[in-house]
Amino acid sequence: FGAAQVLVASNRGPVSYVKDDDGSLRAKRGGGGLVSGLSAIGPDAGALWVCSALSDGDREAVRRGLGEDGVRMLDIPAEVHSDAYNGIANSVLWFVHHMLYQTPLEPVFDAEFRRQWASYETYNRAFAEALAEEAAQGAAVLVQDYHLTLVPGMLRELRPDLRIGHFSHTPWAPPEYFRMLPDDVALQILRGMLGADRLGFLTRRWADAFTACCERFAGGLGDTRIGVHGLGADPDFLRERAHRADVEERMAELRREIGEGRRAIVRVDRTELSKNIVRGLLAYRQLLADHPEWRERVVHVAFAYPSRQDLAVYRDYTAEVQRVAEAINEEYGTEGWRPVVLHVKDDFARSLAAYRLADVGLINPIRDGMNLVAKEIPVLSDQGAALVLSREAGAHEEMGEDAITVNPYDISATAEALHEALTLSPADRAERCKRLAAAATALPPARWFLDQLNALREGS
Ligand code: G6P
Repeated sequence: FGAAQVLVASNRGPVSYVKDDDGSLRAKRGGGGLVSGLSAIGPDAGALWVCSALSDGDREAVRRGLGEDGVRMLDIPAEVHSDAYNGIANSVLWFVHHMLYQTPLEPVFDAEFRRQWASYETYNRAFAEALAEEAAQGAAVLVQDYHLTLVPGMLRELRPDLRIGHFSHTPWAPPEYFRMLPDDVALQILRGMLGADRLGFLTRRWADAFTACCERFAGGLGDTRIGVHGLGADPDFLRERAHRADVEERMAELRREIGEGRRAIVRVDRTELSKNIVRGLLAYRQLLADHPEWRERVVHVAFAYPSRQDLAVYRDYTAEVQRVAEAINEEYGTEGWRPVVLHVKDDFARSLAAYRLADVGLINPIRDGMNLVAKEIPVLSDQGAALVLSREAGAHEEMGEDAITVNPYDISATAEALHEALTLSPADRAERCKRLAAAATALPPARWFLDQLNALREGS
């Protein structure tokens, strides 16, 4: 047995190493909701975080014995990792749970898929073995996300003494969509997850969809318990971080880009298909077309950070976002006014600066497990931002009442929602924003994690 009493497992760890031109390795914080949520735990909490090497820089860091305290990075062969991560996790499971397939042509489950599926099994087994090695007798293990659905079942066989939890940071597909997967694969995933004592989801909706899948395809949940834990924003961390000098500098730069006296409609996302960035831009264009009074008086500040660029659909989507943003600037821009300010280079301090400056936050995913940006903007906005929020984001379950709700497919309705958000009275906006911030911080990450740990240990 190992020594760790609490273990976390996820594909992406808290940092990833980038190789600089001079050959040195620089640690970079990972993006996305999972890392934001779990970073609060840190090595001080005594937890061991098992993650995968994601890049050549990471693999070299592992070989050189570099690394953070409390983190074990697994050096899984690059081809196995790519099949599991790019092939299965991000091209199949992510697509299933976010219902992203264009079904006349996709998905295709052929020999290539089977080969990648075998890698996904190998990759899951590498995690299960590392966890079995590191865990103390009776330890609690919290496995994260769709990359690692087989780990609970595999680990249960290796170490029946452990308390095993799994948490999904994504939506879960309803049975009618989930059954698109080959039957044996679908069953293997459900059985793998049901190897856990307890499964966590971000909202009741995703938990119910999982339960429905188990009832339809796996004979029910068995002894596995289900919990809903709506991960919230961390107000103390955010406020402290967002008031440092580097953020103030970025605010000054952004103010120059926006221009004096103009409103800012802000969005910050990974350039991710499910985030619906293109329809967001088209809705903004329609706002300018239908409500010419906003021309020259508003700027759409859109940050779309690179994500999953090994996948052609993501590269194409990134190009499309840039194309549409440029087209709007060409169509409507004037001497002193650039209608869309698009940034694609990842910059955490600039994201925080944009949150502080936001008059309106645009969060219009076609489907999203939670969406932490929806929670971070109300916490940080200096003048009380209004939120235009998709009803398909998990965050909508907690924040729908004070946001302006949109159907993310409806570009015209989204344009009208932006208009409504821009015309709310300052007092109404501030009141709503206060309530949004309260809802957003109801369950900060450290408590989110501890609640799960306690429930896992207590058998509740
Ligand atoms: C989502 C997933 C996470 C993932 C993040 C970033 O939030 O639930 O598991 O880490 O996206 O995606 P990436 O593929 O870059 O890890």
